[in-house]
Amino acid sequence: MFDVVVLGGGAAGLMCAMRAGQRGRKVLLLDHAEKVGKKILISGGGRCNFTNLDARPEAFLSANPHFCKSALARYTQHDFIELVNKHRIAWHEKTLGQLFCDGSARQIVAMLLDECAAVGVDVRVAHKVTRVEKSDRFTVATDHGDFSAASVVLATGGLSIPKMGATGFAHEVARHFKLRVTETRPALVPLTLPVPEISGVALDVEARCGRARFREALLFTHRGLSGPAILQVSSYWKPGQEIVVDLLPDLDAASFLKERKRTRPKAELRTILAEIMPQRLAQSLAPEGIMANQRDRDLDALTHRLKLWTFVPNGTEGYAKAEVTLGGIDTDGLSSKTMEAQKVPGLYAIGEAVDVTGWLGGYNFQWAWSSGWVAGEAV
Ligand code: FDA
Repeated sequence: MFDVVVLGGGAAGLMCAMRAGQRGRKVLLLDHAEKVGKKILISGGGRCNFTNLDARPEAFLSANPHFCKSALARYTQHDFIELVNKHRIAWHEKTLGQLFCDGSARQIVAMLLDECAAVGVDVRVAHKVTRVEKSDRFTVATDHGDFSAASVVLATGGLSIPKMGATGFAHEVARHFKLRVTETRPALVPLTLPVPEISGVALDVEARCGRARFREALLFTHRGLSGPAILQVSSYWKPGQEIVVDLLPDLDAASFLKERKRTRPKAELRTILAEIMPQRLAQSLAPEGIMANQRDRDLDALTHRLKLWTFVPNGTEGYAKAEVTLGGIDTDGLSSKTMEAQKVPGLYAIGEAVDVTGWLGGYNFQWAWSSGWVAGEAV
């Protein structure tokens, strides 16, 4: 008999189990994978971008943008940094407030497992949860038998990267208990569109989708575009919508090109462009010809194409390549303070399973820690 069964040993589930255990609750953590924290292990190129110094509600997408405020305020990035420091895990800020382990993401998983072990959390892997029912208590059915508990926490994540064991299980259980699930879409995902054959070329851009704008790197791929700037706007993108990219965000390109036409009239336009962008991109964008032969209005037209490159992607690379799932268990049915389902006392939902999605850069783990912590305080 357990007080709490946490379903899913990812970032959110481990944090929740740890906190509930610290409060003296008898906690069982179940995961169908052969080990916990698999996404933590592969995150941040193996170094885990575990939080962001700038984590704030505006960096999260949700049908209710206010929902995340309470949890983020009660367990902040600084609280998580304190935990990391307590375990003497060395870290550094890479860029834009993004914090990474100096060593390995394995340290973060080991930290959470140590904390869980210290308070007697019973962690069982290779346990696939198949069903959750409620009478006076909850019954959690697994391929290793049934477990009973007063509280159940849905922490089985979203739909991204099915190859790594992602399932829609949390959404199914939510629906079973008559909680609404908002429409889900792949987010932080590469976009597909016809692009020049210059895969691997990267440059700093400003990418825009509607009112969202991000100043980061863009990467050309075989199938379209990726890189942080594109991943960020992908979370805001809906099929049919335009994306606008400024390929030269730091430059008054029109003045630059006209100045070069005066000072280097015999230079090839492509050579001049390669001064301000990767050579392979310059080759693919500019026609052949020397500067002296470019009419001012052609240079203006080229500038327009470079500063306001506008396109409609034909799709995304889908859940197979998406870092996160946009949408999920509707926050309307949950308490923002405890993550408990208002209509199903004892049932909680945390992490990526919920309709709260962060920007790229450690925000999604911070949501997992914050939502996991507040649920762990309440279960
Ligand atoms: P998560 O998916 O981590 O955990 C869910 C757990 O439930 C899994 O362990 C799964 O095995 C288990 N499960 C699923 N169905 C089950 C069932 N039926 N029965 C039992 N167990 C079940 N974010 C960030 O902030 N910084 C970063 O650096 C990165 N990097 C990154 C890289 C890549 C490649 C991806 C795919 C994602 C990231 N992310 C990220 C996003 C981040 O990984 C994600 O937001 C969190 O892992 C979400 O944590 P959860 O605990 O909610 O789900």
